[in-house]
Amino acid sequence: MAERVIIKEVAARDGLQAQPKHLTVEQRMALVAALAETGVPELEIGSFVSPKAVPQMAGTDEIADNLPAVDLAFSALVPNMKGYELAVRADIRCHAIALAATEEMNQNNIRKSLEDTFVMGEEILDRALDDGVAIHAYLAVAFECPYEGAVPEALVLEQADRLMSHQPARLVIADTIGAANPAAVQSMMQKLVDRYGPDRLGCHFHDTRAMGLANVYAALLAGVRQFDASAGGLGGCPFAPGAKGNVATEDVVMLCESMGYHTGLSMPKLLQAVELLADMIGAPQGGRAHTWLSKQCA
Ligand code: COA
Ligand code: ZN
Repeated sequence: MAERVIIKEVAARDGLQAQPKHLTVEQRMALVAALAETGVPELEIGSFVSPKAVPQMAGTDEIADNLPAVDLAFSALVPNMKGYELAVRADIRCHAIALAATEEMNQNNIRKSLEDTFVMGEEILDRALDDGVAIHAYLAVAFECPYEGAVPEALVLEQADRLMSHQPARLVIADTIGAANPAAVQSMMQKLVDRYGPDRLGCHFHDTRAMGLANVYAALLAGVRQFDASAGGLGGCPFAPGAKGNVATEDVVMLCESMGYHTGLSMPKLLQAVELLADMIGAPQGGRAHTWLSKQCA
């Protein structure tokens, strides 16, 4: 049987959070429904953040109340304990917390120091363990920070150790601004896989410098089998200038399936979701292989 690659679809969160065009809650629900139809096993529906900080994500609680009746793992991003509590109240049982590897990125993202961010992350992890809530702990700007530049591998490995001692369901290494290269990815992920095994590790890549897919490949070589991706390649971070979209889900599915891995996603359904997204945003969306994939599915 083909080896499985698990894709977490993040278009409805990472994809939308930096869009100048703010979708309505109804549009976001329709998007979540379309993405849920693709067969993706994990789907991030939004974030429980301050609507002043990220107005695009306001109303995520309503989306959580109206999830499509599809059997998959829905999750949401929470920036702090208040967000954690709101998400639990909305019955979301898998949360993403983002801890940046650098001081400046944490200050810009959640207005906390690096140390305060990690202490808060540890509090959420410990609480979640008691509550039976799964946490995906993201180490953001794990290769390069838009404010501080290159991030040393040794620092990220140390931070990974610190977080892993609080038992996240998954540790996700995130190249928030799309500055990683395949050699750096393979080096870091191999060390983490050797230390922790692949089951509790994931990667989150952006395609700013056209290396998103190459970085997925490098992580696959290191043994990583869990990847975030965004339909149509939509995405960015409102607090990380210059970050382009996530690696496109359709590109990751194509890469994985062509290499013999099984993702469980339906390409026609995925392209339908991308089309819906393009209509809503009012601009064409699509990964690097969009033209070719569309022809195959026509
Ligand atoms: N959800 C909703 N509202 C929240 C909240 C949350 N998780 N956390 C705090 N708030 C509210 C507070 O209740 C308070 O409301 P008020 O002004 O009506 O009293 C206000 O936000 C300010 O609270 P404070 O604790 O002082 O937060 P802050 O102003 O320092 O902002 C964050 C900190 C984390 C809430 C804010 O920066 C944020 O939401 N950032 C989002 C980061 C993000 O999503 N980045 C992209 C993905 S990595
Ligand atoms: Zn991202």
